[in-house]
Amino acid sequence: MAKSEFASKIGLIAATVGSAVGLGNIWRFPAETQANGGSAFLLLYIICVLVLGIPVMLAEFSLGRGSKSDAIGAFLHFKPHKPWWLVGALAVLTPYLICCYYMVVAGWTLEYLVESVDGNLYAGLSGLDTDDIRAAFATRMSEYISTDVRPVLYTIALLVINAGILLGGVQKGIERLSNVMMPILFVILAIMCVVSLSLPDASEGVRFFLYPDFTKITPGIVINALGQAFFSLSLGMGILITYSAYYPRSTNLMRTSVIVALMSLLVAIMVGLIIFPAIKSFGLDNESLEGATLVFVTLPEIFARMPLSGLWSTLFFTLLFVAALTSCVSIAEVPIATLQDRLHMSRSKAVAVVFIPLMFLSTLCALSFGSLSNITICGQTIFNFLDNITTNIFLPVVSLGVCIFVGWVGPRTLLRDELTNNGTIRSHFSFIITWVIRYLAPGLIVIIFLNHFL
Ligand code: ALA
Repeated sequence: MAKSEFASKIGLIAATVGSAVGLGNIWRFPAETQANGGSAFLLLYIICVLVLGIPVMLAEFSLGRGSKSDAIGAFLHFKPHKPWWLVGALAVLTPYLICCYYMVVAGWTLEYLVESVDGNLYAGLSGLDTDDIRAAFATRMSEYISTDVRPVLYTIALLVINAGILLGGVQKGIERLSNVMMPILFVILAIMCVVSLSLPDASEGVRFFLYPDFTKITPGIVINALGQAFFSLSLGMGILITYSAYYPRSTNLMRTSVIVALMSLLVAIMVGLIIFPAIKSFGLDNESLEGATLVFVTLPEIFARMPLSGLWSTLFFTLLFVAALTSCVSIAEVPIATLQDRLHMSRSKAVAVVFIPLMFLSTLCALSFGSLSNITICGQTIFNFLDNITTNIFLPVVSLGVCIFVGWVGPRTLLRDELTNNGTIRSHFSFIITWVIRYLAPGLIVIIFLNHFL
C-alpha cells in the first residue's frame, strides 16, 4: 500500500508545528526561563533552536522522507543488515513511554478547562484575601491530581479522543485536527498577550523576559537551554522521522524546518509575554513557576484577581489543551506508524494495539499522585521515573544515534539529496548543516548527557 501523505503544504506545516508546540512551550518554557535568569535563557534557547535544533530536525526529516518509512524502517532502509534499527526501536519506545505521562497532564488540563467553563474553579473565593486564594488553588491542585477517580477518567477521555483522531489517519485525522487547532492556538495567544501586556507594570515583566543580561549566562544555563530546545522541537522522539515520511517528495525540507522552528520560538516568546508581565503585575514574581504550580496555582490565582476570571481561565486552558492534544497525537502516531509499516497492520488494529496497553500504563501514571504514590522505581514515582528516563536518557541517546547515522553511517549523499530534493532545488546551507550534524550536535549532546550524570 502506498505511504499516506499530507494533502497540503499548510497541513504538513500545521501538523509539524502542532507536534512541536506543546506542554514544552507553554508549561516547561516559562519555568525554565524563570529558573535560569530570564532573558539570558531566552537568548540561549533561541540560539540552540536555530543553530542546533534546525540541523538535527533536518537529520530526522532526511531519514523519514528519504526512506518513506517509520522510525525503525528508516534505519533498516539505509542499513538493512546492521543493528542501527535498534536506535529506531528506541525512537519508538521513547514516545510510547512519554505518552503514558503526557496523556495524564493533558487530562489535568482538560479537567481544568471543564472546571473553568462551568465556573467551579472560581467558586467560593469571594471575600478571601490574596494568601487565602493562593492556598485555595494549591489545595485544589493537590485534590484534583491526587483523588484517584477523576484524573483517571480524564486521562482515559484523552486517550479516547486521541485514538478517535488517529483512527482518521494522516489526512482526515492528524492534518484536519492541526488545520483547525493551530489557528485557534495563535488567536488565543494573541488575545492573551494583549491583555497581559496592558496590565499595570507589565513592562517590568517584559524587561525581565526580553532585556538581555549576558552576565547571567553560565554553562548550566546553556545545557538547560539545549534540553528545552530539543524537547520543544520534538527531537529524539521519532516524531519527525514519522511525520516527514508523510511529506511529499517535493516538500522543501529546509524551508519547512525553519518555519517550524520559528513558529515554535514565536509561541514560546508569546507565552513569555503572557506569563511574565502578569506575574510581575500581580507581584508574584518570587513564586516558583515550576510546571504544575505555574499552571494550576499561580495562573488561576492571577485570573481570580482579574475581572472576567472565567473567560481568561477558559481561554488559557483551551490554549494548553489544544497544544497538548496536537502533540499527544504526534507522539502516539510513532508506534502506530511502526506497527502499520513493520507488521502490515490496518490502522484500526494498530490504534487498538497501541492504545489498549496505554490505557493501563497511563492509569498507573495518573494514580502515581494518589493511591500508587508509594510505588517507586529507582526511588521515583512511576510518573517521575518515566519522565526522567525518557527526557534525560532516551531523548539524547536517540538524537545522538540519528546524528551519527545521518552524518557518518548512512549514505553519504542522503542529506544533500534530501535538502536539494535530488538536485532539483538549491540548498545554500548544506555544508554548515552537515558539519553541525557530524560534529557540533553529537559533541554537545554527549556533554549534556554526561553533565546530567557526573
Ligand atoms: N514538542 C512537544 C512539546 O513541547 C513534545 O510538548
